[in-house]
Amino acid sequence: MNLKIKKLLLKKNKSKIVSLTAYSKSIAKILDKYCDIVLVGDSMANVLYGHDNTHRITLSNIIQHSLSVRKGIKRSLLVVDMPKETYSNPIKALKNAKLIMKKTKCDAVKLENYKDNFKIIKKLVNNKIPVMGHIGFTPQFKKKFKLEGKNIKEINYLIKTAKLIEEAGAFSVVLECVTPKAARMITNITTIPTIGIGSSSYCDGQVLVTDDMLGLSGFYPKFVKKYTDLNRVIEKAIKKYTRDVKLRNFPSKKNFLNGTRVR
Ligand code: KIV
Repeated sequence: MNLKIKKLLLKKNKSKIVSLTAYSKSIAKILDKYCDIVLVGDSMANVLYGHDNTHRITLSNIIQHSLSVRKGIKRSLLVVDMPKETYSNPIKALKNAKLIMKKTKCDAVKLENYKDNFKIIKKLVNNKIPVMGHIGFTPQFKKKFKLEGKNIKEINYLIKTAKLIEEAGAFSVVLECVTPKAARMITNITTIPTIGIGSSSYCDGQVLVTDDMLGLSGFYPKFVKKYTDLNRVIEKAIKKYTRDVKLRNFPSKKNFLNGTRVR
C-alpha cells in the first residue's frame, strides 16, 4: 500500500487530518507544508471556470491542473477528483482512473457516490488504484445544497453507504453537508478516515475549498470559515499599482532593466 495512505489510516482516532483543494503549483506548494491531503477538486468548475456546477469539468481540465499541482507537492497525499461522466461504468472508470494516475502521478482518485457505484470503487481498488469516496451532498449528482442525515432513515442510509464504500476498498470517505449526528455515527462505525466539509468536528479530518477559506471565491456558506479576505488584499494591491502607473511611480529606476540581470 502507498506509504502516505498507510500513514493517513493511522491517524484515525488519533490526530485530525488536514485537507484543502489546489488547482495550481503556487498554492499546492504552500499547502504541501501543512496538509495531509491536497485535493484537485472539480470545484475548479465554480472557482476557476465560473460555471454554476461541476458538471462540465473534463478529464483534460482535471489532468492539466493536476500536472501543475503535482509540481508543488512533495509530502502531501495528492488526490484527484474524477469528473462526472468519467466513471459511469466500471470499464470506463478504470480506463480514465488509470490515465489520471499515469499522467498526473497522483496518489489516489476521488469519486462521488451515485446509486450503487461501489462496484466501480471495487474495480479500481482491485486494479491497485486507491480511491476516496464521497457521500452526503454530491455536487455531480445533486442540484441543491441540502443537509443530509436529518432523520434516522437518512442516517441509516448514509451509514450503510459509508460501510459499503469501506467494504469496496476505499481508503477514506468525504462527508459533505451531513448532520453532526450522522457524521459522528459514520466516523465511529467505519474504520477508514472520514473527511468532513460542512459536517461538524466529529469527522476524522476536514477539507475546504481553498479559495473559499481565503476569501477569494465569493462563496461563503455557513460552514466556510474565512481565514482572510484575499479579495480585499488583491484589490488594494491592484488599486495601488493602477495609481503608480498613472502617476509614473512605476516602474521606478529600481525596476529598469539595464544590464543582463533580470531578477
Ligand atoms: O471538488 C471539491 O473541491 C470537493 C471538495 C469540496 C471535497 O469535492
